[in-house]
Amino acid sequence: MTTPPASARLAELRLNGAIPRHVAVIMDGNGRWARERGLERSAGHQAGMPAVREAVEGCLAAGVGVLTLFAFSQENWQRPPAEIDALMALLEEYIAREAEELREQGVTVRMLGDLERLSPSARAAVDAIQSATAGGTRLALNICISYGSRAELVRAARRLAERVAAGEITPAQVDESTLAAELYTAAWPDPDLLIRTSGEMRISNFLLWQVAYAEFHVTPVLWPDFTREDLYLAILDFQRRDRRFGRVSA
Ligand code: IPE
Ligand code: IPE
Ligand code: MG
Repeated sequence: MTTPPASARLAELRLNGAIPRHVAVIMDGNGRWARERGLERSAGHQAGMPAVREAVEGCLAAGVGVLTLFAFSQENWQRPPAEIDALMALLEEYIAREAEELREQGVTVRMLGDLERLSPSARAAVDAIQSATAGGTRLALNICISYGSRAELVRAARRLAERVAAGEITPAQVDESTLAAELYTAAWPDPDLLIRTSGEMRISNFLLWQVAYAEFHVTPVLWPDFTREDLYLAILDFQRRDRRFGRVSA
């Protein structure tokens, strides 16, 4: 049995429950999308670009305040050089093409991860979009590039150790809030909803700390096919969950 997809409008109308403040997305399935069509993997990454716009505009329309996208993991540096080059070129293309419109839409873009590993031109593009969009107040768009959650946690632990060694804080002051304050995501609430496309049921080293109480929504849709309607369906799914946070239901 197939369920007819609710129209985007209908889905929007039904968005009358709690809107997640923060949605995180593992954008997966570009390679399979390309393979199904007999194309190079890089063509799948190219085809995934409109889906980024769908997710951003869907969040703006639904009133989501923070959208964090997993675009390139630390482990993805182990892919073939040609694929990495294609992904880095797409990053620069995305910034060149979208920065102005994102600014106009009130979107603030931050890139999270080990940006030292990016090429000088990619880093310059990242700096440019971050400063161009710094004043946006409608949506915080975080794009995780060269990102690994364990590395992020190690970096936070090292920074806390340095602060203890410098006498700024005592070991007893190391707690959940001081650790969270050293993560890339310090400025934002934890994700309420984590979406993964392409049907994979794993975290792949994404936001391990931050998703402690996120609701998971896994969709079989491959990332290049993801539309704002898929986002609304994920939010509707989220709205049906009973979030207990370890307590008992009200
Ligand atoms: C997600 O698509 C994009 C990145 C990880 C950069 P994949 O390239 O992982 O696509 P699949 O999983 O091989 O289909
Ligand atoms: C996770 O997808 C990383 C991104 C979406 C950027 P991968 O395709 O790299 O993850 P695995 O290898 O299937 O776990
Ligand atoms: Mg993948």
